[in-house]
Amino acid sequence: MPQETAVYTHGHHASVLRSHTWRTAANSAGYLLGELRPGMSLLDIGCGPGTITADLAELVAPGQVTAVDAAAPVLARARAVAEERGLSGIRFAVADVHRLGMPDGTFDVVHAHQVLQHLADPVGALREMRRVCRPGGVVAARDSDYSAMTWYPLVPGLDEWRALYLRVARAGGGEPDAGRRLLSWARRAGFTDVTATAATWCYSTPEERAWWSGLWAERTVESRYARLAVDGGHATAADLRRIAGAWREWGAREDGWFAVLHGEVRCRTAPGRRHALTAPAGAGPDPARPPAPPAPGRPARVSGPAGVPPGPPGPGPTRPVRPVRPPGPSARSVRPVRPPGPFLTEGAGGGSGAPYRRGTAHQGRQPADTGGAHQLGSPVWTFWGPLCGCASMTWTRRSRSTNG
Ligand SMILES: C[S@@+](CC[C@H](N)C(=O)[O-])C[C@H]1O[C@@H](n2cnc3c(N)ncnc32)[C@H](O)[C@@H]1O
Repeated sequence: MPQETAVYTHGHHASVLRSHTWRTAANSAGYLLGELRPGMSLLDIGCGPGTITADLAELVAPGQVTAVDAAAPVLARARAVAEERGLSGIRFAVADVHRLGMPDGTFDVVHAHQVLQHLADPVGALREMRRVCRPGGVVAARDSDYSAMTWYPLVPGLDEWRALYLRVARAGGGEPDAGRRLLSWARRAGFTDVTATAATWCYSTPEERAWWSGLWAERTVESRYARLAVDGGHATAADLRRIAGAWREWGAREDGWFAVLHGEVRCRTAPGRRHALTAPAGAGPDPARPPAPPAPGRPARVSGPAGVPPGPPGPGPTRPVRPVRPPGPSARSVRPVRPPGPFLTEGAGGGSGAPYRRGTAHQGRQPADTGGAHQLGSPVWTFWGPLCGCASMTWTRRSRSTNG
């Protein structure tokens, strides 16, 4: 395994794939849909079982989609999904996001959903994504943020679950609070035209609660995450059983409600210029990223808070999605900017310039992701900066800086 790649905490256990296969472009990539046009070429990195990939392929058809994942077995699932849907044009390949092995400027759109949180070098990964993106194309990433997940009722065992998940993921080299960091990572990767948004999944119906709590209860005792927790000395088998019980307890509550917050970035590469392959000035370790904890000696009790998430309940047939665009500034003025130091590649912003349809990606009562049309019932104050004391209630933030 390449050095930059952390351990993929979840693995591809059935309980994990139950959540991944619920995902659609509508509930997981709404922030990107307004950029997609028929005929585009698109790379989906860390495609997993490929349900989002298949939706994206339909949206850019007759364009070419390439789907890669570091794990070969899950690509077989993705191929089967594509075949079931009659999508014969998707190319699948095993590849590591840090070394994609593709020529510079190959794709119009380079996409990664819930991948950067699992990497030890997400900034390096974003640079590689930019390298294979054509000038004027879009690099898009979306990741959840475990510490920002919230729920009710306050079942104590779920705090224990979150604390354990944070420890296990960080011990493996990942960053489970990736959502809040995406804008920072994108800037450090050299992007200067970044649109950063947030969106949620929310589970509250009996079906959604049963699905979400059931897959997490199972995952807690049976997936790779469970093994990493025990082998790494972060929890005992008894701890895991207790946490799984907490999930079932939450799932049985009629007033149960769970929200998963995601960060999203759409990064436009500079038109007409090749991308520099060197790191921009200032690139380096993330100063705000907590170091991975040392491997504990003995498993102690699991304590503390925090958590992540896959998708919600019962996938229905994948529905056709229509491009939507998150609310927020629609004007996309182009302003020449100067990238940092010798890194003279990223530049002016400007969107696709295409008309867009406002709307949400809600699908009936399905827990949905609004792709930027954030559906929390009331505004939520979120600290999105490096602990600078500035709170922002703005869900959509466009960053066009001169010092990425
Ligand atoms: C949470 S899953 C997301 C799957 C899919 N994008 C989705 O949202 O349904 C993360 C995927 O990234 C893959 N992955 C992890 N590290 C990777 C790397 N270095 N390069 C490519 N894929 C990677 C994993 O094998 C896994 O399938």
